[in-house]
Amino acid sequence: MSLNNMIEVRVSELRVGMYVAKLDREWLDTPFLIQGFYLESQEDIETVCQYCKKVWIDASRKAPGIHLDGRNKPTDTHSAPVKKYPRKSDIFQEHKRSAKAFGQARTLTKSLLDDVRLGEVINTQAAEATVNECVQSVMRHPDALMWMTRLRKESEYTADHSLNVCILAVAFGRHLGMSEQDLQHIGLCGLLHDVGKMRVPDDVLNKPGKLLPKEMRMMMAHTVHGRNLLLSAGNIYTGAVDVAYSHHERIDGQGYPRKLTADKISLFSRIICIVDAYDAMTADRCYQAAKTSTEALKIIYEERGKQFDERLAIAFLETVGLYPPGSIVELCSGDIGVVIENSQNYRHLPIVSVVLDADKTPYPKPQTYNLAMTQTDELSKEYLVKRVHPDGSFGLSLRDFHEKGLLNYR
Ligand SMILES: [Fe+2]
Repeated sequence: MSLNNMIEVRVSELRVGMYVAKLDREWLDTPFLIQGFYLESQEDIETVCQYCKKVWIDASRKAPGIHLDGRNKPTDTHSAPVKKYPRKSDIFQEHKRSAKAFGQARTLTKSLLDDVRLGEVINTQAAEATVNECVQSVMRHPDALMWMTRLRKESEYTADHSLNVCILAVAFGRHLGMSEQDLQHIGLCGLLHDVGKMRVPDDVLNKPGKLLPKEMRMMMAHTVHGRNLLLSAGNIYTGAVDVAYSHHERIDGQGYPRKLTADKISLFSRIICIVDAYDAMTADRCYQAAKTSTEALKIIYEERGKQFDERLAIAFLETVGLYPPGSIVELCSGDIGVVIENSQNYRHLPIVSVVLDADKTPYPKPQTYNLAMTQTDELSKEYLVKRVHPDGSFGLSLRDFHEKGLLNYR
């Protein structure tokens, strides 16, 4: 970035297509995921106006192919016509409706993987039934199950991770406008992508420290085991075999096990590669603390075109959003809340259940606020989100939140 091209402007002078290179405040104190971005819509400008008085634009950068009516969409990621899925359920209803299905899906996923560990053939019917429940809920409203992907237990990492990747992949496919059948397929690919890990010895799979070269080879072999297990299952969607084999391949050709070049990596493998990395980064592991969703999305953005397909990486950022459901957020007032639902119109203004005051003392009853009301001054700007914190911060556990039924309150 050349300093010669930097122009200081008041936010009232911003126009769609300008490249914002610097803010008058810390990036971390704003909802902007990426340092340096094009203003793609009027909404982007309004968001900048809420947080800044002046910014610096880079006049040498011209906006590449911007859609004035919304975000850049990957246009050629799939040949099928793009489907639109309106939200068909109220978020609180959907939470109630899907909580039981989610619990059953967790149990089923765990027993499916346990069976494989014990040498039994994959129960493809159970896998398909689990995926179907997830697809139906995500089609109605993706935020309820996305919220539940945060309810993981470290001791059941592989089962929780498999189900989370299934759910996130279906939500991603919904965002990309896939048909219902493709959603079923991508969900199955997500659920079974790591099934080969059931053939990796536990002491290698759960080793807290760095893996030795030999152990690393055993771990990487889960892709080959996965392919073989799914091939022997018979009567299974063949795309799932490809994804189990290829989800660690990289766009720059440096992945494993085959070092495939980009043109040889299927769309579904590219999708699962991104979703897998995101879910793994946001989980607490014995060798690494969980990253916030913002930190994980930044890494995916930085690795676009290297580890990840560039257009899909951007589309995934859009799917998850700035404040994914279940995020623990600090408001400008210092209050702490949990994101319940994303706004369809304002990416940075979710619906939040506020549970702690500025001194981090619990409110007697959580209060739910729609932050979009800051747009019309019905709600003070003090209710804008300042930053995201990892699950468990301030003693807030999503699992407790869920089990205490706090979502039923409105
Ligand atoms: Fe894997």
